[in-house]
Amino acid sequence: MSEINWGQLGFGYVKTNCNARCEFHDGKWGEVTLTTDETIPMHIAATCLHYGQEAFEGLKVFRGVDGKARFFRIEENARRMINSAAYLKMEAPSEELFIKACEEAVKANAEFLPPYGTGASLYVRPLLLGITAEVGVKASKDYLFVVFVTPVGPYFKNGFAPIDVVIERDHDRAAPRGTGHTKVGGNYAASINAGAAAHEKGYANELYLDAAEQKYVDEFGAANFFGIKDGKYVTPNSRTVLPSITNKSLRTLAQDLGLVVEDRPIPYEEIKTFEETGACGTAAVISPVGNIYDPKYDVTFHYDAPGKVSTQLFTMLQDIQYGRIEDKHGWTREIDI
Ligand code: PLP
Ligand code: COI
Repeated sequence: MSEINWGQLGFGYVKTNCNARCEFHDGKWGEVTLTTDETIPMHIAATCLHYGQEAFEGLKVFRGVDGKARFFRIEENARRMINSAAYLKMEAPSEELFIKACEEAVKANAEFLPPYGTGASLYVRPLLLGITAEVGVKASKDYLFVVFVTPVGPYFKNGFAPIDVVIERDHDRAAPRGTGHTKVGGNYAASINAGAAAHEKGYANELYLDAAEQKYVDEFGAANFFGIKDGKYVTPNSRTVLPSITNKSLRTLAQDLGLVVEDRPIPYEEIKTFEETGACGTAAVISPVGNIYDPKYDVTFHYDAPGKVSTQLFTMLQDIQYGRIEDKHGWTREIDI
């Protein structure tokens, strides 16, 4: 393994030793195997290639202050993959199989887990693919489940630093009764054009409004949205938003801080009333928002970021992830590496 400068890592692919795989044929899952192969031999008519029959997950392992390695809420990721798969009529790995494959992939790549204090972590990417050859639009009978890992730094440049974002008016990420609540590749395909345009203009990410009417805040291309005001943590309740595990955790931590949690539609007009806003997710952790620009009205909503509450939430979350405080909610799972 070549020397990795842990503190300088961005959010990209770093080659590791191997990945874990498991296949579903004839109605059952096989054994988990490890392979050094970074490629997937696949039939040219596989349903994942033509009809997007694929789902994925993203979670992290952290090296704690006490030297122990911990997954953060891996069971939640397993359940979300089961839900995503059900929506696309895919066969999903059980929670046990999901965890086993992740553990094997992490153990086989132990030297890629960034040391404590570097701000980096090991990103775990489980991927589920329909691999039966079909030409008609229908579900596969065969599936491939792959887990690879890669060491990562912050998703948005500079970590816990204010980001500028832009409201997306020209493209929708997810249809009103579509796949937005699942973690499937098609949602990201739909966001690539808007994401690229946002980056070209210097924005870290694009913020989607509800696709039906553009009246409510939905989420960012790669993270959920939250706002803070009057002692409240407010986050959109929308069928087209990915149920973020980070956001779920922040709602609990906000309650621990004595904030009232409001899980409800957020009308566009409310954006200007927040004291703080932020993006949250596994990759983003918490990224406080400095400015939200809306090209439709050529208006910028500004926040003095990072705000007090976002900073408290970020600290609490990372303290749990890095084992600096007691994990009283039982969110972490130790892995012996
Ligand atoms: N929303 C989108 C579109 C995402 O891609 C992600 C990343 O997984 C999130 C939200 C955050 O979800 P989580 O906190 O489970 O990582
Ligand atoms: C994550 O936060 O895990 C994500 O999947 C976001 C992005 C990299 C797609």
